[in-house]
Amino acid sequence: MALLALFIVLLPSLIFAQDLGVPLTWRDFNNSRLLAERISIAEDTINTILPQLDASDASFNGIGYWQAGNVFSAMANFDHLAGTTEYEDVVIDGLTTAFSLFTDFDQFGFNDDAMWWATAAYYAFRAYGNEDALSMATATWTHVSEYVVSVADAASGTQPNKDFPIAGTCFGESMAGGVFWQPTADGTAINSITTGLYVTLSAFLAETTGNDTYTNASILSAQWIQNLQINPDGIVLDTVDGEACTRSPSTELFTYNSGKYLEGLAVLADVTGDDSWTTLMTDIAAAAIKSTVWEGSDGIITEGASPTANNDAVGFKRYSSEASTKSPYNDVQYNALLELADNGTSYSSSWEGPPQAFTTWGQLAALDVMVTAINTNSP
Ligand SMILES: *[C@@H]1O[C@H](CO)[C@@H](O)[C@H](O)[C@H]1NC(C)=O
Ligand SMILES: *[C@@H]1O[C@H](CO)[C@@H](O)[C@H](O)[C@H]1NC(C)=O
Ligand SMILES: *[C@@H]1O[C@H](CO)[C@@H](O)[C@H](O)[C@H]1NC(C)=O
Ligand SMILES: *[C@@H]1O[C@H](CO)[C@@H](O)[C@H](O)[C@H]1NC(C)=O
Repeated sequence: MALLALFIVLLPSLIFAQDLGVPLTWRDFNNSRLLAERISIAEDTINTILPQLDASDASFNGIGYWQAGNVFSAMANFDHLAGTTEYEDVVIDGLTTAFSLFTDFDQFGFNDDAMWWATAAYYAFRAYGNEDALSMATATWTHVSEYVVSVADAASGTQPNKDFPIAGTCFGESMAGGVFWQPTADGTAINSITTGLYVTLSAFLAETTGNDTYTNASILSAQWIQNLQINPDGIVLDTVDGEACTRSPSTELFTYNSGKYLEGLAVLADVTGDDSWTTLMTDIAAAAIKSTVWEGSDGIITEGASPTANNDAVGFKRYSSEASTKSPYNDVQYNALLELADNGTSYSSSWEGPPQAFTTWGQLAALDVMVTAINTNSP
């Protein structure tokens, strides 16, 4: 749920001046906490979830496999932004354990799970310069690449790892660049989260290596989302069936689909120097941070508020990033967590409150906002 709070970090501040004027109805959209305090708040938030870690399989009691990958991402990004190595050992150990237990980070047969973990591995490389982490990210990228619809696949109507005739075009647009959600031969769904994760990791690998195989992969998949998956309001849709071309209901709108794509576009714009990706990012961001689908006029994200049980929506979130800017949107979420949803250093998944006893999923959802806030305010 935190992902929208976070993608704004990616945007240059000039975008706020242009398109993203802060609605005055938003609650508490500034923040005067100094850097040391923001670091300490993020650190306490991480340290409050860490006792749930089972180091034997890199899982966290109370949340699922893909969500656990995002806890490691938050730790690596904390160190990246704070300039520390506090969580290096726990992150590298967790990634190494999961990668050795589950080939290419795929525990349950989902390419998006694998990509969340591969992204965590990339963040670990970024934070610590750890080459093993980069190798895990690259190996997983190579594996998931087997489930991308290539230009040739779209032309032939076949995909080497699928046992059904694939749709080469849907809604008049090429399906090239779409990434199948599941590796299984009969899995037909192609979704925005798997594809958005692929856009993003490809762009990061391009940035790191300068190898245009990654750049081209990122562009093709970014085009798939651009051409097929953006609704008239500018919000990213969920799934297209890669055989029948049917689409998920238009009401299935989740912050992470827009948020992960925005992160990918930010990196892709950087790698390619192509301003059209920045424009697209700006348009989607402007729509997403004001969407009434997941927030009221106070701006506080309500998606995935779930006091009594974990669910996927609680984990629909994304990360902090390398770019630094003021972020009124993150501050709305930050102040809500600290003022409405807090119980000591634990946070409810209902960011409008009330506070409650610790839950692993509530703490997970808070992590990205807290880590991002390190970077989104000055000094
Ligand atoms: C927002 O800015 C005002 C004016 O500078 C300040 O008094 C207030 O404490 C700030 N809010 C937060 C949550 O930091
Ligand atoms: C670029 O990356 C691709 C995909 O990982 C790899 O197959 C290729 O060998 C790389 N090229 C170079 C020059 O390293
Ligand atoms: C990437 O795309 C560019 C532009 O279309 C092309 O010139 C280049 O050969 C491609 N690189 C790879 C590795 O496919
Ligand atoms: C805060 O957390 C403690 C310990 O988990 C719990 O006993 C208490 O009920 C919580 N407070 C609220 C207001 O829910």
